[in-house]
Amino acid sequence: MGVFPVTRLRRFRRTAALRDLVRETRVDVRDLVFPLFACPGTGVERPLEGLEEIAQRSIDRLCAEAEEVHALGVGAVLLFGIPEEKDEAATGAYDDHGIVQQALRALRERVPELVLLTDVCLCEYTSHGHCGVVDEREVVNDLSLELLARTAVSHAEAGADAVCPSDMMDGRVGAIRGALDSEGFEQVPIVSYAAKYASAFYGPFREAADSAPAFGDRRGYQLDPGNAREALRECELDLAEGADALMIKPALPSLDVLAAARARFDVPIFAYNVSGEYAMVKAAAARGWLDERQAALESLTAIKRAGADVIVTYWAKEAARWL
Ligand code: PBG
Repeated sequence: MGVFPVTRLRRFRRTAALRDLVRETRVDVRDLVFPLFACPGTGVERPLEGLEEIAQRSIDRLCAEAEEVHALGVGAVLLFGIPEEKDEAATGAYDDHGIVQQALRALRERVPELVLLTDVCLCEYTSHGHCGVVDEREVVNDLSLELLARTAVSHAEAGADAVCPSDMMDGRVGAIRGALDSEGFEQVPIVSYAAKYASAFYGPFREAADSAPAFGDRRGYQLDPGNAREALRECELDLAEGADALMIKPALPSLDVLAAARARFDVPIFAYNVSGEYAMVKAAAARGWLDERQAALESLTAIKRAGADVIVTYWAKEAARWL
């Protein structure tokens, strides 16, 4: 009978080589995506305190960073922009000479082989910091769709390999697919942040991207953390609208959703290991409370084990060195 003492699960745990041989889940640097924040100027590199990897960089510095990221074997970068000016209509988001568009053109030339993903959202470009158009303190869904679609098209024109809408407006995947196709970008995939929760773990990012909402919060459009079935409906609807891949976010607090999405949908699934998840480990490690390398690799392994194909993580560069 296959029970103790005949069966001893410790046999395969005896040595590092045996454990390595039977490991079910491996983190591969080619499946990691490194977020980059482009800002105006030259020679600018503005790291967040205690989070060296999350820095705003002018395009010259961004290119140098991207070269390094590519040389390390990291699979892709995900671009965010900090524009010179913000306004009610998020003009900087879809401006042909916007910060992300300029960064894309520079990166295309400097690191032609690197996969360039872009975050499609309005929050970094609106004066109020919300992800859509605001009227009377309400984020207006349908009016936002056209601007999001224009943003995606302008990213495609500037050389994005895929666009990643993260705004959580209803119908944006369909609007973006339609606009891309009618402009001749039917080959550009959409990685939809389909299940994006209204999370407390985006704190450091909002500082890095200068995108905290000036009033209210994002609970009127991002998912309620109590809901998993609704997250799967979001995934289903985004796929029906033409999403090529799904993103689940934040990663560690949503492993159940990730596993459920993996079981249900046969498309590539991305998970975003967000800024707060990274910051918590960094802060604890700085106090000597845990080992950063082990905690980071355990986090990434758990995210893969739950079903992610691709992980967006601020550890991408560090992980490339560790692995
Ligand atoms: C833009 C966006 C956010 C993040 C990714 N895209 C912030 C937000 O929704 O407030 C968060 C990423 C992170 O915390 O690392 N909407």
